[in-house]
Amino acid sequence: MGPDLVIAGRAFVGGELKDTEIGITDGKIVFIGPKADRGGDRIDIGTSRIVLPGGVDPHVHFRDPGMTQKEDFGTGSISAVCGGVTCVLDMPNTKPPALDADSVRDKKARLRGRSYCDYGLFGAISKNRSPSKMAPLVAGFKLFMGSTTGEILTNDDTAIYKAMKDIEASGKVLSVHAEDDSLLLHEYERDCTDHLRNRPATAEVNAIRRLSPYKGMKINICHVTTSESLALASSLGFTTEVTLHHMVFDAGTGRGAKFKVNPPLRDRKTMESLYRSFGEGSVTMIGSDHAPHTADEKSQEFDSAPSGIPGVETTMPILLNMVRSGTIPMQLVAEMCSAAPARAFGMNKGSIEVGKDADLSIFDLRKTEQIGASRLHSKAGYTPYEGWGAVFPNMVLVRGEVQLQDGEFCGETMGEDIIG
Ligand code: DOR
Ligand code: ZN
Repeated sequence: MGPDLVIAGRAFVGGELKDTEIGITDGKIVFIGPKADRGGDRIDIGTSRIVLPGGVDPHVHFRDPGMTQKEDFGTGSISAVCGGVTCVLDMPNTKPPALDADSVRDKKARLRGRSYCDYGLFGAISKNRSPSKMAPLVAGFKLFMGSTTGEILTNDDTAIYKAMKDIEASGKVLSVHAEDDSLLLHEYERDCTDHLRNRPATAEVNAIRRLSPYKGMKINICHVTTSESLALASSLGFTTEVTLHHMVFDAGTGRGAKFKVNPPLRDRKTMESLYRSFGEGSVTMIGSDHAPHTADEKSQEFDSAPSGIPGVETTMPILLNMVRSGTIPMQLVAEMCSAAPARAFGMNKGSIEVGKDADLSIFDLRKTEQIGASRLHSKAGYTPYEGWGAVFPNMVLVRGEVQLQDGEFCGETMGEDIIG
């Protein structure tokens, strides 16, 4: 008896594209080789398409519960699948915040049976609460050292020190928003240049430096914006996560609230240097930091508009368009968007190997499309990448279930919490 399903075609296996057959049974990859046993269903993807491991996005804000006018887990996870992402890790700055066992349990109960991709939740570190009890429930912990959406700032060395012992004992990763809040200014802002002035890069590097006593711990520095921070974080044995927006947009002049994000867009030189570091392989992983706000909220005057850029649906497609044009190698995308985040967070996902979850995204690299907000699925309803070229997936499977076919979403709410 052969596998339930066989996908035949060119697939990214063992670091390269190979003509192969991938056998899937009960949502897992059970066979990779020239010829799988027959008997089950078969999808022949032809010669123009390629199979990549599904994206693992280690950083999204799906706003559920409490801010579902911006996004909910349904729209967020549809958006993920339509961008080739098959698993997301959701941040804890929801309402109420996920910061102890009870609130995480409530959030899990609310999300159960509502996601179109697999997911894990972060639990927030906060003063005077031990992370131990929520450890078995979460995919990782999140520490906000700089203030941003939500009220779970913990920028206090003693509180951090107290939490670290329990975090280390749990074996889970601590993802950190590294901006030292005490170095942020609060001057009136008209545009991204003012926002950058209020949130200087020294705040980022200083926050990372303050974590040096925890050298070698499983710490992941989120949305790193400078090559200097990257080097420091790596020297401390931390993993690093970079967003696409910090590599392709600078603070510019007169940039409006749609580009307002924390940490802020930097100046052109810093941005170019970050992109170069990414190209050289000095970044551990890419996270979208998908942080949707409604178009109305974003059209307020700059100073009062919320920070955050949507990106879960556009990150992999834009990177794959860069692969198509020969700007970056395929290996970099497969590593940083899938294998590395899965490895960092200990998931049985992220690469096409026997025994791994059958999370697969299939693309035709000859088919470039222009991004338009109206073809995206987030409630945000806008994108800073309007008009950019992108290669969207043609087919997406989550644990062997076809969630997107012929470029159209067709999924069911079969997504599961990776922690159970
Ligand atoms: O710009 C941001 N928006 N940065 C964050 O750290 C949080 C996020 C949000 O939740 O809106
Ligand atoms: Zn974030």
